[in-house]
Amino acid sequence: MRRRSLIVANWKMHGTVASVQSYLETMVARAMPTGPEVVICPPFTLLPAAVLIATGSEVVIGAQNCHWEDKGAFTGEVAPTMLVDLGVRWVIVGHSERRQYFGESDQTAAARSQAAQRAGLDVIFCLGETLEQRETGETMTVLERQSAVLAGLDPARLAVAYEPVWAIGTGRTATTVQAQEAHAALRRRLAGLLGTEAAAALRILYGGSVKPDNAAALLAQPDVDGALVGGASLDVEGFCAIIHAAPGGGRGAGE
Ligand code: PGA
Repeated sequence: MRRRSLIVANWKMHGTVASVQSYLETMVARAMPTGPEVVICPPFTLLPAAVLIATGSEVVIGAQNCHWEDKGAFTGEVAPTMLVDLGVRWVIVGHSERRQYFGESDQTAAARSQAAQRAGLDVIFCLGETLEQRETGETMTVLERQSAVLAGLDPARLAVAYEPVWAIGTGRTATTVQAQEAHAALRRRLAGLLGTEAAAALRILYGGSVKPDNAAALLAQPDVDGALVGGASLDVEGFCAIIHAAPGGGRGAGE
C-alpha cells in the first residue's frame, strides 16, 4: 500500500515572529497538493502567526504538546480545544524530550493523545528506545510497552513517529536497515493493537538527525512513511530538500 508521505517540522524551542513569517511564506509558495503532506510545528507563541499565513494553503500547522484536560486550573498549560480554536490541526505527543525532561509517562502521553483526538486534532505519537536499551537488546520490549497505549486511539487521526533517542540531535542516524526493521516490527505490533487494515494505512515516521543528505535513503524504505525533523527543519531550504526527497516529493524515480 502506498501511503502519502508525511513530513513534519519540529522546531522545538526555536523561532521568532519574523522567522515564522518568512519561513512559512516560502513553504506556502512551494507546497503542492499532490506532494507529501507537510506539517510545521513551531512553539506555542508562534502558532497564531503560523496559522494565519498557512490558512488556505497546503501547509498545515501543528503544536508540540497539549494538556489532557479541556480547561481548568492548570497554570502554564494549553488545552487541545484551544489549539483547535486557533486553527491548529496536528499535535506532537510523547516526544522523548518531554519524557526525559518533563516527566512524560506512557500514561500521560496516552491521556494527552486521547484528549487531542477528542478535540479533533491529529496526533503524532512519538516513541523510541535509548542507546542503553538498544545495546542490551531491549528495543522491541520498549517499543511494545510504549505503543500499548495506542490501542485506545483512533487510527484515522494518528501517525506514529519512531525516534530512537540516541539519534535525536546527535547527528547519529539509524541506518536504513535499523529504521526499516523497527518500522516493520512496529507495524506488526500496530496490526495486533488496531487491526490489520488500520495498521496498513497508518503512517510511521522516522525521526532522529534526518537531514537533506540522508532523507531519500530513509524515506525509500517500504515502512518509512515520512519524517519528523528537528534541527534540519529550522532551515527552510534544507527542510524543502527533505520534502523533495520523499516519495511523491518530485525527486524520486519517474517523478
Ligand atoms: P533532530 O530531532 O532531527 O534534531 O534529531 C528530531 C526530533 O526530536 O523530533
